[in-house]
Amino acid sequence: MCGIVGYVGKRNSQNILIDGLKKLEYRGYDSAGVAVYTKDGLQIKKSKGRLANLESKLDEAPLEGNIGIGHTRWATHGKPSDVNSHPHTDNSSKFSVVHNGIIENYMQLKEELTAKGHVFVSETDTEVISHLIASLYEGDIVKAVQKAVTRMRGAFALGVLTEYEPEKLVAVRLSSPLIIGVGEGENFIGSDIPAILEYTRNVYILNDGEMALLTKDDVTLMTLEGNFISRELFHVDWDIVTAEKAGFDHFMLKEIYEQPKAYRDTMGARIDAAASKVVLPEIGMTPEQIRSIRQVHIVACGTAYHAGLVGKSVIEHLARIPVETDVASEYRYRSPIITPETLVIVVSQSGETADTLAALREAKRCGARVVAITNVVGSSVAREADDVIVTWAGPEIAVASTKAYTSQLIGFYLFGLYLAQTLGTAEATYIEEVLRGLRELPEKVERILEQSEAIKEVAEQISTHHSLFFIGRGLDYAVALEGSLKLKEISYIHSEAYAAGELKHGTLALIEEGIPVIALATQDALFEKTVSNIKEVKARGAQVFGIHMEGDTELAKAVDEVFAIPQTHPLLAPALTVVPLQLLSYYASLALGHDVDKPRNLAKSVTVE
Ligand code: F6R
Repeated sequence: MCGIVGYVGKRNSQNILIDGLKKLEYRGYDSAGVAVYTKDGLQIKKSKGRLANLESKLDEAPLEGNIGIGHTRWATHGKPSDVNSHPHTDNSSKFSVVHNGIIENYMQLKEELTAKGHVFVSETDTEVISHLIASLYEGDIVKAVQKAVTRMRGAFALGVLTEYEPEKLVAVRLSSPLIIGVGEGENFIGSDIPAILEYTRNVYILNDGEMALLTKDDVTLMTLEGNFISRELFHVDWDIVTAEKAGFDHFMLKEIYEQPKAYRDTMGARIDAAASKVVLPEIGMTPEQIRSIRQVHIVACGTAYHAGLVGKSVIEHLARIPVETDVASEYRYRSPIITPETLVIVVSQSGETADTLAALREAKRCGARVVAITNVVGSSVAREADDVIVTWAGPEIAVASTKAYTSQLIGFYLFGLYLAQTLGTAEATYIEEVLRGLRELPEKVERILEQSEAIKEVAEQISTHHSLFFIGRGLDYAVALEGSLKLKEISYIHSEAYAAGELKHGTLALIEEGIPVIALATQDALFEKTVSNIKEVKARGAQVFGIHMEGDTELAKAVDEVFAIPQTHPLLAPALTVVPLQLLSYYASLALGHDVDKPRNLAKSVTVE
């Protein structure tokens, strides 16, 4: 995910581009850059790291000009670096491109262009676009872009400038968002409305397969084939803060609702549906190396640790390798037995958590191979691990992790299946069944989200209590831990998660009249035993809210209220059961009037031990 912005008009473009990029930084902040047409021609300034680095460069040597494009990057192809930052140009430096998306056939295009004498300086797919457009240019930038687009496969939103036609800005949209802002004697492009909302409230929202030619006085909309489109202007009447949250009240809610997309993006091309197998080219281990793994250690903190608990069950079940899951802050200090036959999996949304990074380094020092599951390309964890499974959840802004956690689960499912395929520890038909279940998850999450009102009511009841319990067995217990953490961190209500069968060994003493208990019962094999444990708390006066799978008629008889997740393979249930629990904590926090996105005492990335 990246953010793009563009301006053509009477004002100095640099400041408008920087303002827009500030609004888009949530889409990625590995590096940023701008290209401005100045009296010395097209000039590019870009810098690795936060936007502030680019701003200091521009403070030292500002770019003066009335047309420009800007970009804030979330690295995909090529690590975060000055050279991989956008805008990109061609060998003549007469063309400049910013891009959000992925060009799937960029290697093929790069080879073709290299054979024709083009020289590439970056590892990015975007640089190929600027060379391609330059190679097809015959005096009309719109036509050159149209021709280039027919050669490109993938998803992209583009902003294109050329020094040959310095009054024109070309914008293209195919599967990546792009809007056009229409002003008086000035026009804008942006990855989203907030990027330009400070300057105009009149926008055109480009649809897939559409492009636009912007000059300071005109916006011409057309299809990628060049057919003109006439469209009503859309007037934005929301305030800027609402707009950044895409109409959601909080980033957390927005991110909960982004989960179907995060699931799809994380699975992406990694599932070969025709061959019923998982393809993970990012794992560099040979089959011999995989066969030599004697044990797996999963190490992470907080929510990522909870994803690791699900990962343990998934890998043990599918690949039949013993797995231990550790909290990263404990791992190094317990003198773990790490050998070259140990595979260590570190899980981290940010890729910068100090304890997780330290555990990774300790594992490497002991000769283990390290696989990272992380959401940030180019993060420390991603750079130092041997193999990296990127979770394509996109930037997570709310402190309480939601879509990053569920994407980590998807990472574990994919990796577990990959190990099983290589080791032959699961029947092909079984793998096929789990893969089918995985592909159906996004649509099932959408169905859960449609029932958020029912969860809201329960959350409002819970918000009046000071303490509650989450119980479950097996994978339900792992999700109970995550549900409890989520509730604690944003609603500040005390809660504990317990393995349902463990209650009677002490904790049952805390169950009293009216105390809420959230009981998860999605695992067929453990269902009856969980129901017995629910009866134990009910007998002592607990108010039980049960979560089960559609089709079950038994749980409703044992609890006060039930919520059904769609039927799925039991192994995959955590990817669904956690969603109502996320909503539960969100609405409880809301009912209590807390700052949902920035809970007290916490930070998004914990870079101290
Ligand atoms: C809770 C939460 C934290 C993080 C933990 C690890 O909602 O987000 O518990 O999971 O701080 O962070 P990462 O995944 O960035 O290593």
